[in-house]
Amino acid sequence: MSSPPQLPDELVERLRSVRSVGAITGAGISHESGIRTYRGRGGLYDDPEEGDRTVEALSAPTLVIDPDRTWAAIAGLARQAGAASPSLAHRALVEIESKVERFVLLTQNVDGLHRRAGSRNVIEIHGDILETECLGCGRVERLSFEELQACETAPRCEDCDGLIRPRVVLFGELLPADKVLRIRLELYASIPDLLLVVGTSALFPYITDPVAVAQRAGSVTIEINPEATASTDLVEYHLRGKASEYLPLVAAAL
Ligand code: OAD
Repeated sequence: MSSPPQLPDELVERLRSVRSVGAITGAGISHESGIRTYRGRGGLYDDPEEGDRTVEALSAPTLVIDPDRTWAAIAGLARQAGAASPSLAHRALVEIESKVERFVLLTQNVDGLHRRAGSRNVIEIHGDILETECLGCGRVERLSFEELQACETAPRCEDCDGLIRPRVVLFGELLPADKVLRIRLELYASIPDLLLVVGTSALFPYITDPVAVAQRAGSVTIEINPEATASTDLVEYHLRGKASEYLPLVAAAL
C-alpha cells in the first residue's frame, strides 16, 4: 500500500512565511474534472490524426475559410467544460487566494473552472470559451454553455450580421496584449514569494519565463505534475503527483 502524499518538512517550514502567491495552471488541473488534456495518455493530441484535425479546426486560417468547422470544435470543447465541475485542486487554489495578501492565477485553460470554483484574480491567457466577439461590429457577448453547445455552425451577429468568433486564442494568433501586460505587472514587476506550476506541459515561454524569474529571485518554486515537463528543471520542488493530492496540502501549510 502506498503512503499518502506529503510535503517535505523543510518546504512546509518555508511556506509559513509566504505572503504572495502566483499559480500557473494548464489542462492537467481540469483533468480530474473530466476534461481531456491536450498531450499525454488519452489527450487530444495522443492520436496524431485527431490532434492535427483539432489544431487545424481551432486555427486562425480555418476561422476565416471554414468558420463552421471552428465552431463545431468549440461546441465540442464547450460540451466537456459544461459537463465539468471544479475539482479539489481548483478549490484548493481558492483557499490559497483567501489566505495570502496577494494572489494571481495565470491559466491556459478556457473552461472557466477556476472562476466557477471562486478564484478571483485570474488571467485567462488563452481566453474564456463562453465569450464571443462579432468580427463586424466588435460586440462582445457572454453565452451560457447551452447556447454555446448549440452553435454547431458559425453564429451571426443580431446587430450587424457579422461573423461571430469565439474569444479564445486560436492557433497562429497572438496573445491578448492586455493580458500579457498583466503577466508582466503581476508576475515580473512584483515577483510572488511562492510560484506554483500545476498540470501544464509548460511548452510556452510565457509559462516558463515567470518560473525562471521567480526561481532567480529566490522565491519558493513548486511544480505539481505526475510527469516531468519543460519547467521541472526550473523549479526547486517537483511534487510528482496529482494536483488534487498536493494543492490542498500546500493550502493547509500557508
Ligand atoms: P497539456 O495537455 O500539454 O499538459 C497537461 C499536463 O498536465 C501534462 O504535463 C500532464 O502530465 C499533467 N497532468 C495530467 N493530469 C494531472 C493531474 N491530475 N494533476 C496535475 N497534472 C496533471 O496541457 P497544457 O500545458 O495546458 O493551447 O497545454 C497548453 C496549451 O496547449 C493549451 O492551452 C492549448 C494547447 O495547444 C491553445 O489551445 C492555444
